[in-house]
Amino acid sequence: MAPLLTLDGLSVFYGRRPIIENLSLTPITGGGVTALIGPNAAGKTTLLRALAGLVPAKGSIRLVGMASPAHPLELTGLPVSQHARHVTYMPQALPQRVALTVFEATLSALMSARSDVVLSTSEAQARALETLERLGILDLSRRGLDELSGGQRQLASLAQSLVREPTVLLLDEPTSALDIHHQMRVMQLVAELARERSIIVVIVLHDIAQAARYCQRIVVLEHGVVAADGLPEQAITPQMLARVYKVEARVEPCSQGFLQVIVDRAA
Ligand SMILES: Nc1ncnc2c1ncn2[C@@H]1O[C@H](COP(=O)(O)OP(=O)(O)OP(=O)(O)O)[C@@H](O)[C@H]1O
Ligand SMILES: [Mg+2]
Repeated sequence: MAPLLTLDGLSVFYGRRPIIENLSLTPITGGGVTALIGPNAAGKTTLLRALAGLVPAKGSIRLVGMASPAHPLELTGLPVSQHARHVTYMPQALPQRVALTVFEATLSALMSARSDVVLSTSEAQARALETLERLGILDLSRRGLDELSGGQRQLASLAQSLVREPTVLLLDEPTSALDIHHQMRVMQLVAELARERSIIVVIVLHDIAQAARYCQRIVVLEHGVVAADGLPEQAITPQMLARVYKVEARVEPCSQGFLQVIVDRAA
């Protein structure tokens, strides 16, 4: 059975200001990718940070694991170290001014996530190198993180998230700095890894067509509440785009059948 993530009555505040209010979702299933989309300041990053246990949240976030389906793990209130064993979060802003090489950073991400599992050094190194290869950045292994371009840094950060093989992978705009080749490569790899390892992936994206192409489920957030949720063709409609994004837009399949969003004007 694939793992499930359930959110029930979730509320998140910054100070006294509510950002996410009483949010519930039907279970998010492992093996596929769920996109979290919505306008700027809708609360996407806040929701991801709450799922990652980095901001206090009220309500329930439960992980129903493969090992013990009868005993869901309540993630709210779990100590950060235990939380990080199950959930990996790649933030939108990347604080990577550290003097490690890409390879060292990937390896240390793996070792810190897997302190409970005995991995030989050669096994760990092989896994780190395999991750770098699948992301197409093996040639950057020996480069310092502080010597990389913005896109290269984003790929290196993604390698650190993927190598941990979490149950839940949360990615906040992981392709925002990437060229179209690397965007495709990353989306394909994330979808592949989700399928191969039955990972629950929640990914924040601003590119709606990209979300429609690679994600089985689209959750649209607006002012901290769910404005639409479903298959891409159910959630992404001209009506939703007008209401939530304030644009006049068409939603049409391309010649290969992938859903495209053509924005005619800002309303
Ligand atoms: N640390 C913080 N303290 C107080 N308010 C915050 C903090 N971080 C975000 N906010 C506010 O919470 C709201 C939601 O922000 P959030 O970063 O979750 O939006 P988002 O949907 O990720 O937007 P974007 O697409 O621009 O990244 C915004 O109004 C923002 O100003
Ligand atoms: Mg954000």
